Amino acid sequence: MPEIHWDSTLYNEQHRFVSDYGADVLQWLDAKAGENILDVGCGTGDLAAKIQESGATVSGVDASADMIELAKQNYPTIQFEQKDAAVLDYNREFDAVFSNATFHWIENQRGLLRGIFKALKHGGRLVAEFGGKGNIKTIVDAIENAAKQLGLEHRVISNFWFFPSISHYATLLESTGFEAEQVWLFDRPTKLVGEDGMLNWINQFAQHAFVNLNEEEAEAVTDLAVNILKPTHFKNGEWTADYRRLRIKASKR
Ligand code: BEZ
Repeated sequence: MPEIHWDSTLYNEQHRFVSDYGADVLQWLDAKAGENILDVGCGTGDLAAKIQESGATVSGVDASADMIELAKQNYPTIQFEQKDAAVLDYNREFDAVFSNATFHWIENQRGLLRGIFKALKHGGRLVAEFGGKGNIKTIVDAIENAAKQLGLEHRVISNFWFFPSISHYATLLESTGFEAEQVWLFDRPTKLVGEDGMLNWINQFAQHAFVNLNEEEAEAVTDLAVNILKPTHFKNGEWTADYRRLRIKASKR
């Protein structure tokens, strides 16, 4: 996982669309009273709290200590813990594992899926949504294009997310032992908050792209990328990002 600094307060104010859109995937989870459910990559805890409303017992894990601290403040009745999702150490404890907008950050997908498989009880299910093949392609292209125009293309890293195809992920699930019941790939254009929505998005989510640049260089690439995107992605005072989701439901039979 790339080193990202998550500003949990800013995230809650400007990027809360992550959990707002995530509410849709909860329908696939269909949590029931009495179930024990793990939320992997729980962030500030909003979706874990929604799951809890069904009467299930929820635990949330996230790699960011800052996010976990805010989740605990927001929802004191839920158990939140800082953990690396690629090395989970649970043993047949959960009826379901849920995850929203997290898997694309994780390089070690085998470790992630093995840990989840082991965490599930026999008959348990995994429901997750994350970036799929083609996700944010126009934003990545704009960053690469801006870096090239500024002669910085060899120092910008633009391929650190994992956006798999349907067949790639179904194969990963099945080779871990899961039965892949549903694997869907679909466009979900996503509105960003405010006039600086794209700038804020790049600063929060793409900061790893610029680890080899100094501050001025990173700012120059970001500003140029935003300008490249403006004619196509900024309409009627609103920015839109070209999200494509991979939504999965898999079970441990
Ligand atoms: C996503 O949810 O698709 C996403 C978020 C931040 C960076 C990359 C992808």
